[in-house]
Amino acid sequence: MGAPRPGLSWRGGPLLAFVAGLSCLLLGAQPATATPEYQALEYGNKSRAWIEVVSLHPRAFVLHGFLSDEEADHIVQMATPNLERSRVVDSKNGTGKLDPVRTSSGTFLAKGADEVVARIERRVATATHLPVSHAENLQVLRYELDQEYKAHYDVIETEEKTAVGLQQTANPRVATLLMYLTDVEEGGETTFPGGKWLNKEAQLQPPYTECGQKGVAVKPRKGDALLFFSLHVNGKKKDAYSLHAGCPVVRGTKFSATSWIHVAPFGTVTAQQSQPGFGACRDNNDECPQWAAAGECTRNPVFMRGQGIVRGHCRLSCKVCRVCAAGDVLCERENERPVPALDANDATA
Ligand SMILES: *[C@@H]1O[C@H](CO)[C@@H](O)[C@H](O)[C@H]1NC(C)=O
Ligand SMILES: *[C@@H]1O[C@H](CO)[C@@H](O)[C@H](O)[C@H]1NC(C)=O
Repeated sequence: MGAPRPGLSWRGGPLLAFVAGLSCLLLGAQPATATPEYQALEYGNKSRAWIEVVSLHPRAFVLHGFLSDEEADHIVQMATPNLERSRVVDSKNGTGKLDPVRTSSGTFLAKGADEVVARIERRVATATHLPVSHAENLQVLRYELDQEYKAHYDVIETEEKTAVGLQQTANPRVATLLMYLTDVEEGGETTFPGGKWLNKEAQLQPPYTECGQKGVAVKPRKGDALLFFSLHVNGKKKDAYSLHAGCPVVRGTKFSATSWIHVAPFGTVTAQQSQPGFGACRDNNDECPQWAAAGECTRNPVFMRGQGIVRGHCRLSCKVCRVCAAGDVLCERENERPVPALDANDATA
């Protein structure tokens, strides 16, 4: 259909191109076209936007100034009423119970929940070259005094043959983008206990807490994001250096938002839905308006309108979508939704 698309530009400079290059290499992706997800990276806080490569073992980058203060505050406010104390499963009766082993509180934000969430998801996609369809819903966590996450991998290795277990093995998490939403007075560092600094002297920012002195450590700072990769560039093998932990908070409150991004589209999204232009609101044929006027949308609904994730040829004329203003992500998301089947009355009308 060939509507001209604006070219891709890299406001983030060579380092960002380098980060993106790594993920391209990883997924064997085709050159990016400038779909709405692939626009220039617009940092939230342009006054201090820069990329720091902290480590190549694991591949870990701090995207300074990724979020503006307003965006960080907005996410905290959105999540706060829904925060639930994280639970562990009671080993005897199988019910969820509170346990001091896991004391953080968390909640998930639906994709495109509002304009700010949608904008941040797009920014994550631009920074990682991994589209929104590959990401889980953003998880917001709050850690207060002494709360921590013990060292763990984001790649879940499970022998479970359940649907969830099989999906985790078939479609592992490749990258994690962790956004810090608050400044923390002391503690709360993210550490890679086995990690290796790229240039320790240039990057150490002491004082760290005792927990933060092992391996590579990143201090939480409001608006900064930590991007790291859990798989080697072959997209299969776990990078053992990606073991990481959230150190106990000593003073202050730490809020973070995490985007876990998978090798392939995640959840109910199919590979087809993640194709560029999937949600486009258009007619594929000049005669669509006439066909629609002649009643073909109801007589021949699957061809004309589409159904489920099958895209019809006359979506515009059959009014199953809206024409979106440039950059209106929520509108685009609406158009990406599966097309409902016509009910019997409509079909015989
Ligand atoms: C950018 O970061 C600085 C330093 O943390 C802060 O003072 C400033 O308000 C931030 N600007 C925006 C737009 O968030
Ligand atoms: C499960 O066991 C825990 C103690 O281990 C108890 O507090 C909880 O009430 C039990 N739940 C049910 C539904 O029996």
